[in-house]
Amino acid sequence: MMKTVTCTAPVNIAVIKYWGKRDETLILPLNDSISFTLSQDEMCAKTTISISPTFKEDKFWLNGKEESLENPRIQNCLKEVRRRASKRKHESGVEGTLNWHIHICSKNNFPTAAGLASSAAGYACLVYALGQVYGIEGDLSSVARQGSGSACRSIYGGLVQWYKGEEDDGTDSVAQSIAPPEHFPDLRVVICVANDGRKKTGSTIGMRRTVLTSRLMQYRIQESVISRTAAMKKAIKEKDWSKFCDLTMADSNEMHAVCQDTSPPCVYMNDTSHTVAALIHQYNDVKTTSGNVNHKVCYTFDAGPNACLFVPGAVVGELLGLLMRAFPPSPTQNTDTYITGIPIQPTDLTR
Ligand code: ADP
Ligand code: DP6
Ligand code: CO
Repeated sequence: MMKTVTCTAPVNIAVIKYWGKRDETLILPLNDSISFTLSQDEMCAKTTISISPTFKEDKFWLNGKEESLENPRIQNCLKEVRRRASKRKHESGVEGTLNWHIHICSKNNFPTAAGLASSAAGYACLVYALGQVYGIEGDLSSVARQGSGSACRSIYGGLVQWYKGEEDDGTDSVAQSIAPPEHFPDLRVVICVANDGRKKTGSTIGMRRTVLTSRLMQYRIQESVISRTAAMKKAIKEKDWSKFCDLTMADSNEMHAVCQDTSPPCVYMNDTSHTVAALIHQYNDVKTTSGNVNHKVCYTFDAGPNACLFVPGAVVGELLGLLMRAFPPSPTQNTDTYITGIPIQPTDLTR
């Protein structure tokens, strides 16, 4: 006797960044964040979960390697899913299965822990698959959040807001869709991989250090990210693409500024990252009659050197040409610097 479920979940890319927690165990953030969930077919985690009365112990494999299940974050997700399942065991008949051992096998089709949101896709996938195994209904974002904060946003498709919430128990710290994937039509994401290795300082440790040491972080949390989030919601509502780009780049730059203001500093962007950012500003620098810049594309960087570019379909070709000229593919030089021009079309991921 065995029950097996396989699910996939995509990454999401934040345009208003989550950086800093007010509760480390429940994973409650200091600010609201907003992100785009990418298409299920591109960068995603794929997780298979089996439960059986014949299994002798719980097991976990990540990218083909067996890992310890001692990890408190996985344990918290398991505990919460089983708690919810036991509440409705009479209807679903899962009572026996709650005691069976579990085997979890997951694989990412893109670099893990490289600042490309593997924890987001990974935990969203794990929690969604657990929900299927134990027959849980209702919002799962607050469970995925307990695996990795950014994971709560990958439960939904399109533009998603993670509300920081006010409650100490985290019940209102949930993600919700705020606009469908086609809200900005024909939008693509280009990922520029500057380094696919594991980052030196993981997001969890980096943001903890920022909260403890950065004074600039106080300005971000008390003032700037609050007004920028409001402005971002307005830009999204009004479909103001240029403003969306302007705010996205400003928030990425502010996050990396607070990382730099951290002691010791958390440095995620490298020379390639800065060159890509400068190139985007150069590309956008066409003034309108009012003298303002009309932003056509924008960049954002997570806790890593790799650029995520939001690009309207009509200019993908031109922009890729520019990137290829700036970073000519060459097997003999600069092997750790290359651009993968995968246009990713956001599609509906709400399952
Ligand atoms: P990233 O920038 O890729 O999100 P993080 O440092 O935030 O990097 O998280 C990386 C960690 O997330 C991994 O070390 C692992 O513990 C967890 N993780 C990544 N992918 C998965 C997955 N598919 N299933 C479960 N956990 C995962
Ligand atoms: C820079 O969600 O990976 O990608 O909650 O500690 O697991 P933990 O951190 P994580 O942090 C993501 C940080 C970010 C910005 C974002 O995705 O909003
Ligand atoms: Co992460």
